[in-house]
Parts: sequence; C-alpha cells; structure tokens
Amino acid sequence: MNSMLKTIAVAMVCGTLLAPIWGQSEELQPIQLPKPRLEAGKPLMQVLKDRKSSRVFSSEKLPIQTIADLLWAACGINRADSGKRTAPTAVNWQEIDVYIATAEGLYLYDAVAHGLKPVAAGDIRELTGKNAFVKDAPVNLIFVADLAKMGKASVPNKDFYAATDTGFVSQNVYLFCASEGLATVVRGSIDRPALAKAMHLRPDQKIVLAQTVGLPKKAVQKE
Ligand SMILES: Cc1cc2nc3c(=O)[nH]c(=O)nc-3n(C[C@H](O)[C@H](O)[C@H](O)COP(=O)(O)O)c2cc1C
Repeated sequence: MNSMLKTIAVAMVCGTLLAPIWGQSEELQPIQLPKPRLEAGKPLMQVLKDRKSSRVFSSEKLPIQTIADLLWAACGINRADSGKRTAPTAVNWQEIDVYIATAEGLYLYDAVAHGLKPVAAGDIRELTGKNAFVKDAPVNLIFVADLAKMGKASVPNKDFYAATDTGFVSQNVYLFCASEGLATVVRGSIDRPALAKAMHLRPDQKIVLAQTVGLPKKAVQKE
C-alpha cells in the first residue's frame, strides 16, 4: 500500500471512529446567554406561596432571555469576586453541572461564561425521564454531579452531598418558575444508564435528578 492509500485508509478508520463523538455536536453552536434580569421577579413570600410541581406543559419554546434567567437562578455566579453561585455546595465544590435538553440538542450551562456549551445535537428529551410529558416540554434540565470535583471524600459522602447540593439547585429552579408563572417538576424517575449514554457522561459523572420547565398548558376552551 503506498503512502497516499495508507493516509486515506487511516483517515477513513479515524473518521468512522470519531464520527459518533464529533458528529453529534457539529451542528450546535455555543450560545452566549443574555445577562440575567436581576430586577425581575415577584416578592419572595408570594413566590413561596406559589411554588409547586406541575406536570402539564405547553410545547411552546421558551425565549432565550427566560432560559438565561432560569439557568442563572439555578446555579449562576452571583459573586464575581469569588465565583460563588446562587446555590450553595458542600466545600464549595460546585460539582453540580446543569445540562439542558431542548428539541435542538443537549447543552451544558457554563456558569463562568454564562453561556451554553454544545454537547450533542439531536433531541434526547424523551430519554430524560419516564414521565410522558418530558418529550414535548421545551426544556428538561439534568443535574449531573461531577464526582471528580469532590476531592477525597468517601463514596457515600460524595453521593450524599451530590444529592443535597442538587436539592438547592432544583429549589432555585422551582422558585424562579413560581416567580415567572412557569410550570416545573423535579424528577427522579429516570433510566440513568440510558440517559448517561446519550449524554456521553464519564463513569464519575452521576445523574442525580432532572427537572422539566415550560409554559403551563392552557386548558382547551370548550365551545
Ligand atoms: C427527589 C424528588 C424526586 C421526584 N421525582 C418525581 C418524578 O420522577 N416524577 C414526578 O412526576 N414527580 C417527581 N417529584 C415531585 C414530587 O412528586 C412532588 O414534589 C410532590 O408530590 C410534592 O408536590 P409539590 O412539589 O407540588 O409540593 C419528585 C420530587 C423530589 C423532591
């Protein structure tokens, strides 16, 4: 085999092997989110009164400003000097990554850049949970603990703090949704191995919970 043929053969093999990894996010572009609207929102006591789980979602897409505000509320940076977040984490590990699955694809929220990093093109919403509504709701957040960020803690402690830290992020999402009149529900009923595969997670990245967000579906008016 001459060198040209060898080069083509190697490129074909590499192309085939790399295609599933590179191909999935090639159509998605990074998204710079608009600044969060810090002046928006209802009074806290009213928000607490309205917080609830809802399971009936409109399929209408959410505006990018709403997604920007939602993700910043979830676990955005609220103190630029220290890089600390709207949600606390044990030892300030900041180990909870928030992924967002939309009809277009899967993104990772980058709190430092306040942007979305493409992970995989294509619609994986159906894989984000066992509830039927997940496939049509515009946004499914997936809370993933990166155990590699949790130092030398024991495995039970990593699991415990990953779960507690996720709870704070989820409650921030609940409160934001109550403030904005959005429907939301946090979900533990997930086929985690299937979703982890679709998300290309490493073995030390653990899916803790998912949370669906969307506009509430309006009741159909009967004539
Ligand atoms: C850790 C956790 C897991 C949950 N998993 C699911 C789920 O898989 N599917 C679902 O429809 N609701 C799920 N929920 C929502 C609860 O059913 C809901 O919070 C509860 O019924 C109380 O209702 P409320 O949130 O309106 O107060 C979960 C809630 C929590 C805290």
